Amino acid sequence: MTELTTIVHDASEIVVGPGTDEPLERYENAAIAVTDGRVTAVGPTNEITDEYPVENATHAINADGKSVIPGFVDSHTHALFAGDRSDEFAAKLGGEQYQDILAEGGGILRTVRAVRERSDDELLVNVLFHLDTMFAHGTTTVEIKSGYGLDTETELRMLDVIRRADESHPMDVVPTFMGAHAVPEETDADTYTDRVIDEQLPAVADQGVAEFCDVFCEEDVFSVEQSRRVLEAGLEHGLTPKIHAEEFVRLGGAQLAAEVGATSADHLLHANEDDRAALTEAGVTPVLLPGTAFSLEADYADARAFFDDGGSVAVATDFNPNCYSQSMGFAIALACVGMGMTPAEALIAGTHSGARALDRTDKAGMLREGMPADMAIVDAPSHVHVPYNFGVNTVETVLKGGEPVHR
Ligand code: NIG
Ligand code: FE
Repeated sequence: MTELTTIVHDASEIVVGPGTDEPLERYENAAIAVTDGRVTAVGPTNEITDEYPVENATHAINADGKSVIPGFVDSHTHALFAGDRSDEFAAKLGGEQYQDILAEGGGILRTVRAVRERSDDELLVNVLFHLDTMFAHGTTTVEIKSGYGLDTETELRMLDVIRRADESHPMDVVPTFMGAHAVPEETDADTYTDRVIDEQLPAVADQGVAEFCDVFCEEDVFSVEQSRRVLEAGLEHGLTPKIHAEEFVRLGGAQLAAEVGATSADHLLHANEDDRAALTEAGVTPVLLPGTAFSLEADYADARAFFDDGGSVAVATDFNPNCYSQSMGFAIALACVGMGMTPAEALIAGTHSGARALDRTDKAGMLREGMPADMAIVDAPSHVHVPYNFGVNTVETVLKGGEPVHR
């Protein structure tokens, strides 16, 4: 039997998703009705409540003075890790370079040592703690990468913990295999690339625990050719490619993303006009990570150029020990203030375009009829307050499949 689960009514504004003539499809003085976990109707409060009376709903939420937005889709994170790198943050503020720290065995390699020492249950506690924070800040779908194992056993352990987190938390968690995240100590990139392809990928595919395969294509990490080998092998095992590209230098990862048909190319701080054109033409979603540029004190990716070329971008947190923010609201504020995006563009980048970067525009990122009712109620009269009230969590309540979740 279908059942009206939830009605949120009298909201100052409800943002449905991208508009056709306007940047946003949105309603003022609006209501949204949810049946069996999906949006059944959204529009002006009087029309919606005539058809779906408030008294019939299991949950009736008066959102007077508040706005409703789709739950954020955080399409790039490394949210499963152990240990603390706050000392590296302080050292970087003092002038040390991220790549030098990595070359000396710190950075990613330090997190790898910490993860290998922890039990599965300890890792699960860590990631659930971060998922709670993300959820409270309005994220309802998140991608999490492995890549702090760098050996078959630990990479599989990470992906299994990611699966358990998905099962035990209301958040939708999308798993990405990233064995090619760094070159482990006492080996070289070619030897390790072989190991990722010959040992790790077949084991990951066998367990069916990842949807995407990602690689850190960067100077002194994985070359374009090594990255190509990993992504093509991933494709053979049914994993869709993603890539960390043009973060510190322009190496050619964006062009590779276009060639292999990646779902997304991420970072892109040093992408140029040719790279943007190749990505747009190939339908690869650019995922920009302003929190990373912020914490590295680097120049932001050129978001405006993507829009001027007729494309669009996703914005994500890149939450990891080097970029320690779980907040999509903060990433959206940086996208506006640091990268010149409008609040409407940044909101779409953090919802619908994030879903595009994860191949799930039919499951997340919009509040159209028939979509899962994943939404955040913002304690302010419009979506503009998300970046306007920067540094503060404006999200008051999160609904997953129409159910208000209090954690
Ligand atoms: O996307 N750049 C590579 N990987 C991560 C950082 C991971 C880490 O430093 O632990 C990123 O920024
Ligand atoms: Fe990353």
